[in-house]
Order: sequence, then C-alpha cells, then structure tokens
Amino acid sequence: MNTDVLLPTKENIDKVGRLLRDGQIAAIPTETVYGLAANALDGNSVKNIFSAKGRPMDNPLIVHISDFSQIEKFSLVSDIPEKAYMLTEKFWPGPLTIIMPKGSAVPNEVSAGLDTVAVRLPAHPVARAVIKAADRPLAAPSANTSGSPSPTSSAHVLHDLNGKIPAILDGGLCEVGVESTVVTLVGDCPTLLRPGGVTLEQLQTVIGKVNVSDAVLNKLRDGEKAESPGMKYKHYAPKANLILVRSDDDKYIKYVNAHSTALVGALCYDEDITELSVKCFPFGKKSDCAEQANRLFDALREIDRTNIQTVYGRCPDTHGMAMAVYNRLVRAAGFEVIELA
Ligand code: TXA
Ligand code: MG
Repeated sequence: MNTDVLLPTKENIDKVGRLLRDGQIAAIPTETVYGLAANALDGNSVKNIFSAKGRPMDNPLIVHISDFSQIEKFSLVSDIPEKAYMLTEKFWPGPLTIIMPKGSAVPNEVSAGLDTVAVRLPAHPVARAVIKAADRPLAAPSANTSGSPSPTSSAHVLHDLNGKIPAILDGGLCEVGVESTVVTLVGDCPTLLRPGGVTLEQLQTVIGKVNVSDAVLNKLRDGEKAESPGMKYKHYAPKANLILVRSDDDKYIKYVNAHSTALVGALCYDEDITELSVKCFPFGKKSDCAEQANRLFDALREIDRTNIQTVYGRCPDTHGMAMAVYNRLVRAAGFEVIELA
C-alpha cells in the first residue's frame, strides 16, 4: 500500500473523510499527538487500526468528536455524569479524555469489551474538520507502532506506518506533544488514569477530589489489574537502555561524566549540554515542563537513530505538567531510577 502524506487542504480533508466513511483508516494531527483514525461506530473499520499498529485487542480506544452534542446524537454514552459537564465546559476542546458509561452504539472493538468508553473533543482544527468531513465520531489511538513513542510529527507517523495506511494528513508539529490526560468518572471518585496537558491540579480546581491511579507513578505489581489497560504495556522505550537519575544538577552531571564512553548518552535538559562529555539528547529547558512534554518523544526517537547503548535521563518531579513528563519517562526507562543522595 502506498502511504500519501497530504497537506490539510479542504480537498484533502474531504478525501480523508471519504476514506474513513468507506471503512479505511488514516493518520490525523491533533494538538496532543497524531492519531490513527477509523469510524468509531463500525467495529470492522476499527479492527484495521489494531492490525496496522500491532496493538493488543484488549486495549480500548478513545472516541473523538467535533461537538459535544455528538455524545447524545450518536449514543456514545449511556448516562453523562454531572462532572463531565463541568470538565468539558472548562477543558474542551482540548487535551482531556473522559471515561464514562458506554452507550449502545459503541462497538466492542472500541471499548475492548469494557462497559465504559473514552471520549475526547480535540482542539486541533484539522482533527475537528476531519471528524466533520467523516460525519461520524472517530476512534483513534496514537499513530505509532504499538510500544514506540507517540508521534508528534507526520515524519514520525511515516517512519512507523509507511505502507500500512493509505494517508497521513500533515498538520505540522503537535503543540502539547504528549497524549491527553485521561480521567475516569466511573466509580466512586474521579480518578486520573494518565497525566497530560490538563494537569491534576486543574482537574481538582473544577471537580474537587481526584484520585491518582497507582499505575500513573508506580510500576504495577505482578498480577495487579490496570484501571486503564494501556498502562500495563511496555511503552516508549528506546532500543538503548534508559536509566533515570534522580538528583540535583551537579550530581547528575558528575555521575554521567564519570560514566562517559562513546556508547553512553544523556537525555538531558538544554542547560546540561555544555557541562556533559557524552552525546546529548536534550528535551527542553529545566524550568519549562511544557517544552519538555513537547520535545520528549522526538528526543526518545532520536536516541534510536544513533548507536548509543546506555542513556542517563533527567528525572523531573511530579507537580503540574511535570507529572505527564515523568509518567512517560519512567515508562520509557522501564521504571529504572537511580537515586543519588
Ligand atoms: O491524546 C490522545 O489521547 C491521543 C490522540 C490521538 O487523541 N490518543 C491516544 O490514544 O493517546 P491511545 O490509544 O494511545 O491511548 C488511550 C489510552 C490507553 O491507555 C487506553 O488503555 C485508555 O486510554 N483507555 C481507553 N478507553 C478506556 C476505558 N474505557 N477505560 C480505561 N482506559 C481506557
Ligand atoms: Mg498510544
């Protein structure tokens, strides 16, 4: 199959809309990461996503809409919780996915057999235009090969899925750079399942208490059930061995330089570059978590373009937007963290 990379002209958006109505799949830009879309109301179309990505069928997909009214129009949710109105009022369109009780129209392929469904109204104008052109909600996971970092450019999508999908709409670089915040409103207390561009603190300001699922910051113990199936899978890891180093600036620099060889690298802050004697993969300024989120996945992919074998990574804290960066980094490192007292 030939994979066309298309500029997001009206004509091309209509073309992708037709493709999706026909049961095919296509990659589309969103403000978080690129998504691999299919008609969310048709289980057979959705199956194509799983095979192109090599995604386990028990990992459910997010349903993307272009207008809040589509939740009812397409019977996506059986009962919209009060707190969903409060959250969407404040954060939609935007990088927030809300888990709600599943409606009758959502096929099992989308929800992976769960009785809940994840819904998001993206902010990216091209994403919304494609949903409108397709005239139906779109199921879309990140448009990467399962396990690798999510794609933040059309080049990343092409690298992973060239020859496996008919089209990629090129919307340039993604603004947020990590996947959406996922919060579930099913259960006794709202629970954060994945940190992203909308922070825990922002959610709490609007709906009060929000729990943080254990798997957000910690490794699941053997046999422990993931509240969000995606969290049990290995994620984002480069081919090199990534190890996070939790320490102050000086100790990080000294530690990495003491281990310097031609096969060692550093996933570091911009300020570290001049201090380090190893190959650097910078992912943003130390004080700018939004920039770190924006650049992290490209930096992880950059490691794979070299023959570096061991990478020592900076370890951010977990407040605000830094929680999303930490969550992705610690998974990429397989939860290997060195503590330097
Ligand atoms: O920013 C994003 O969310 C991007 C763009 C394309 O919108 N999409 C994305 O999708 O990251 P994906 O499939 O890579 O991640 C969706 C996550 C997975 O961890 C999945 O397990 C979880 O959401 N999820 C989906 N439906 C769920 C449900 N009903 N209950 C619990 N977790 C769910
Ligand atoms: Mg993904």
